Amino acid sequence: MSRVLAISGSIRANSFNTHVLHNLQSLAPAGMLVEVYKGIEELPHFSEDLEANPPAQVLRLRQAIQEADGLVISTPEYNRHIPGVLKNALDWASRPYAQGVLTGKNVVVLSAFPSNAGGLTANLQLRNLLSVVNAYVVGGPIVSIPEVHSALAVQADSPAVLANEATRGMIAKNLDSLERAVQDNTGAKHAA
Ligand SMILES: Cc1cc2nc3c(=O)[nH]c(=O)nc-3n(C[C@H](O)[C@H](O)[C@H](O)COP(=O)(O)O)c2cc1C
Repeated sequence: MSRVLAISGSIRANSFNTHVLHNLQSLAPAGMLVEVYKGIEELPHFSEDLEANPPAQVLRLRQAIQEADGLVISTPEYNRHIPGVLKNALDWASRPYAQGVLTGKNVVVLSAFPSNAGGLTANLQLRNLLSVVNAYVVGGPIVSIPEVHSALAVQADSPAVLANEATRGMIAKNLDSLERAVQDNTGAKHAA
């Protein structure tokens, strides 16, 4: 049994990226349990002044990442960058220096956005950031979902269903890679 934590880079109530994450369980290989994290909006802005005595919200995020066998992060693109709220969460998770919980973690990166172009820049930036903190982005097709609103079938009062079969297949391949990396401890081997 592997436990995967899914983090959305958007805190918007009706976020497309969060909707995508709620579809992961239906795409995961047998034995993989996916939990969607709630609460990055509660994190204070990162400051080294707070590091000696980190707030409870920071400790909760770090513990959730530490206890997870792997991560899936889905990011929007804001002005051709990842959103500040996601960068802030990853900065908190990357500290204390050389003891960050992202080190050695196996990760799948996704990005989703409503336009028919864009989104890939944030996806690649997130991959770059993760390599800087010695996380391991698993192999698989790069999943950057254009016109995500068309790929999602909205339902009243519940997460939208990701209906696009090609996208579902690409995400499933990434989750299979994640499961293999977890079983093989690939991230930790790369970080060592
Ligand atoms: C400040 C801001 C900047 C944006 N910049 C981009 C961009 O550079 N590229 C892009 O594809 N979409 C951009 N968008 C549109 C977002 O992709 C869109 O709002 C998306 O739905 C956000 O993700 P979410 O649905 O998960 O909240 C921007 C939106 C905002 C609010």
